[in-house]
Amino acid sequence: MTALRHESIKEKIGSRVLNSKAELLAGDLGPAIRDLIEQRGVLVFPQVSFTDEEQIAFTKTLGKFAPERAGGDETISKITLDPNEAGESAEYLKGSLYWHIDGTRNDVPILASLLSCKQPSPKGTGNTGFANCYAAWDDLPEDAKADLDGLKVLHAPWATVFYHEPEPSLAKLKGYQAIGENELPLVWKHQSGRKSLVLGNTAHSVIGKSAAESARILVGLRDWATSETYTYSHEWSVGDCVMWDNTGTLHRAEWYDPTTGRMMHRTKLEGEEPWQ
Ligand code: OGA
Ligand code: MN
Repeated sequence: MTALRHESIKEKIGSRVLNSKAELLAGDLGPAIRDLIEQRGVLVFPQVSFTDEEQIAFTKTLGKFAPERAGGDETISKITLDPNEAGESAEYLKGSLYWHIDGTRNDVPILASLLSCKQPSPKGTGNTGFANCYAAWDDLPEDAKADLDGLKVLHAPWATVFYHEPEPSLAKLKGYQAIGENELPLVWKHQSGRKSLVLGNTAHSVIGKSAAESARILVGLRDWATSETYTYSHEWSVGDCVMWDNTGTLHRAEWYDPTTGRMMHRTKLEGEEPWQ
């Protein structure tokens, strides 16, 4: 039996996994990696250089492979803002430059995503940021927790348009609205017993609060959860694979020039529990 070898990156978020590619692909480390990701939020496999087939095989050692679209093929997806490469999805990826959780409109959000770096953008741009929303919740003062627990938030993909396009056409707004909305708990009580904050650019408003109070709550919590203590910004090298717990972290791409060829290959794991 191979042991999982790892080291912490920051106190409250991130670990580097040091096992070889062959050890990772053997499959028996799957359960230990699943435990570690829940504890640490983000795992970095430095320059492991998975091929697409290896990334898919590794993903399957961790849970159920989630195709990009329900019923779709078990393939990798290209993540890039380059419209020539990403086609239509380049539009939706513009929202990924702001803190978010993937799939807030689904009843069961994906468990985790894995990105492999095929080509980084120039140094100083295009890092990926992660924020640990378990730790950010745990560290809130008890009176704040009592006020927040039980609140519900309207999550709307259409709310993200205004981040990158303040004056969209009505047609564009309606296109985003057709994706749907979802009312989610502000504080997720996971089956494990732990709790995490559910935030991000789709968080439009707190149900039952005035617009001003709702904005103070959502901005305040995002500000707190994405502060230095809870965040890690990964600077990519070719071949790095990074995996994050999509149920307990926020993530975002940091700004990069879409024409410089930054290319990530993504796989995802099917969610295993609904928001509650
Ligand atoms: C994603 C995403 C961020 C990045 O793949 O869901 O948000 O840095 N990616 O490309
Ligand atoms: Mn994303």
